[in-house]
Amino acid sequence: MKVITVKNQLEGAKVGFDLLKEAMDNGAKTLGLATGSTPVEFYNQIVKSDLDFSDMTSVNLDEYVGLDGADEQSYHYFMNKHLFNEKPFKENFLPNGKASDLEAEAKAYDQIIAEHPIDFQILGIGQNGHIGFNEPGTSFGETTHVVDLQESTIKANARFFKNEEDVPRKAISMGIASIMTAKAIVLMAYGESKAEAIKGMVEGEITEAMPASILQKHADVVVIADEAAVALLS
Ligand code: F6R
Repeated sequence: MKVITVKNQLEGAKVGFDLLKEAMDNGAKTLGLATGSTPVEFYNQIVKSDLDFSDMTSVNLDEYVGLDGADEQSYHYFMNKHLFNEKPFKENFLPNGKASDLEAEAKAYDQIIAEHPIDFQILGIGQNGHIGFNEPGTSFGETTHVVDLQESTIKANARFFKNEEDVPRKAISMGIASIMTAKAIVLMAYGESKAEAIKGMVEGEITEAMPASILQKHADVVVIADEAAVALLS
């Protein structure tokens, strides 16, 4: 796992963009994408660039259960706003949080991932070490599945909602096993609140209690983080 320390989110976004450009120059066709605060500036760099994505496919990590794409808090809405409306791709996939049969939706999403192997995966990390919405305790063998969000995640994400009660309690997420199939992974983390998780991920024991620690076993992971997020690394 390679750790690149940057001054701030803007510098991190530029480093991430250069890695993406290099991957696309080398033939990457499918991007795995994340939502949340962390990748916003990275998406802005893509939007500002003249890189052509019309032949690219994206597969997102997750979506809240119960929200449809028109809902401003949904990850569909987030992705359209920050990236897809400005930079058209060939196709964009996200799990359908409104599916009447969520188990069937999870299976169908695994099929999409199998048909579109991820060349380049962008990740953020939760304060509790989650990647995607794979909370501590999730089996490393899990593929796309329905998740009960943990209290700390609900609290952390409440900032995007009017009230904490409005945060959905469930999500549908790519599993750890799905994420680990990506050819290359770039994980970004900014701020003190991520420092414990970054330490556990990079230097801790590989354990399902710290989902991101599995990335130590992946052959091509780059971590882009600011000083505050790497502060606890030895
Ligand atoms: C989002 C996702 C999550 C976030 C994580 C960090 O699609 O899968 O794992 O990356 O919760 O969120 P932020 O970036 O808002 O701190």
